[in-house]
Amino acid sequence: MTALLEARELRRHYRVRRGWFQSEATVHALDGVGFSLQAGRTLAVVGESGCGKSTLARLLTMIETPTAGQLLIDGEDVAHADAATRARLRRQVQIVFQNPYGSLNPRQTVGDALMEPLEVNGIGAHRAEREAQARAMLARVGLRPEHFERWPHMFSGGQRQRIAIARALMLRPRVLVLDEPVSALDVSIRAQVLNLLAELQRELGVAYLFISHDLGVVRHVADEVLVMYLGRCVEQGPAAEVFESPRHPYTQALLSATPTVDPARRRQRILLQGELPSPLERPQGCAFRARCPQAHARCGESPALEGQVHRVACWL
Ligand SMILES: Nc1ncnc2c1ncn2[C@@H]1O[C@H](COP(=O)(O)OP(=O)(O)OP(=O)(O)O)[C@@H](O)[C@H]1O
Ligand SMILES: [Mg+2]
Repeated sequence: MTALLEARELRRHYRVRRGWFQSEATVHALDGVGFSLQAGRTLAVVGESGCGKSTLARLLTMIETPTAGQLLIDGEDVAHADAATRARLRRQVQIVFQNPYGSLNPRQTVGDALMEPLEVNGIGAHRAEREAQARAMLARVGLRPEHFERWPHMFSGGQRQRIAIARALMLRPRVLVLDEPVSALDVSIRAQVLNLLAELQRELGVAYLFISHDLGVVRHVADEVLVMYLGRCVEQGPAAEVFESPRHPYTQALLSATPTVDPARRRQRILLQGELPSPLERPQGCAFRARCPQAHARCGESPALEGQVHRVACWL
């Protein structure tokens, strides 16, 4: 089965100037990440702030082009596709951002926000047709018909995120990239939005690339997990395996910090020293070495990502 979305060694580097009279430097925001995502599945991408998650999201949604590596949507290489194909592929992968306050245009009613993607893509011959589709989607995400004419400021954070999800689904994409979709929401609202996402996935068979720094949330939604550290993947595999037996010391530390109610599963908390190194000065060898409780001499060399299904980049 061809993957809906496949990333091969994706990289994104930015040239930046650190100060006025300083020379340019390169930020290795994303430094070789690969995965494949099948229809109806959820791949969670986790890691600390600054590890490159949103950069990955921008590449997958074709907002930015990779510096190197390959992106295949529905088996087609995006870089070599003609304009019409690119437009079609772009519609297949839509994004929902963390902040529903920033992602909705305050001057657009909910109805207009939902109809806009259809208009832009020339879908629906008449306004009535677009409106019918938009109204159906509004109901599908659990909002009421009278919400159609209302403005974004009249909604709560959870409702706005429902609107953002509805808008992202208007073009019937096969993949949704969800960049921290519930991180800005109250804990009480999170479960509702996560349930909605689960229902939509069952109904529509859409695949999710779910970005989060919160492993507690990821545990509930992911089929597969990809753990990132400083632009690279350090561990990747079926969610159940990664959560049950994390192999990379970084994953172990992340997991030890997430609360669980089950005492049998409670782990000794591993405290990470220091901060994520700057992607401007990527350390030699394993990037996690300076903070790793188990670092040894070998870690001066970069470990490759190894394994078949459950893959780890660590010398241990
Ligand atoms: N346009 C850009 N120019 C220069 N550096 C950038 C640019 N975009 C991102 N970066 C840098 O790339 C790195 C990765 O950023 P990114 O936003 O992808 O991280 P993230 O994992 O999404 O973090 P967060 O959890 O805070 O959202 C950061 O060091 C960031 O400063
Ligand atoms: Mg981000």
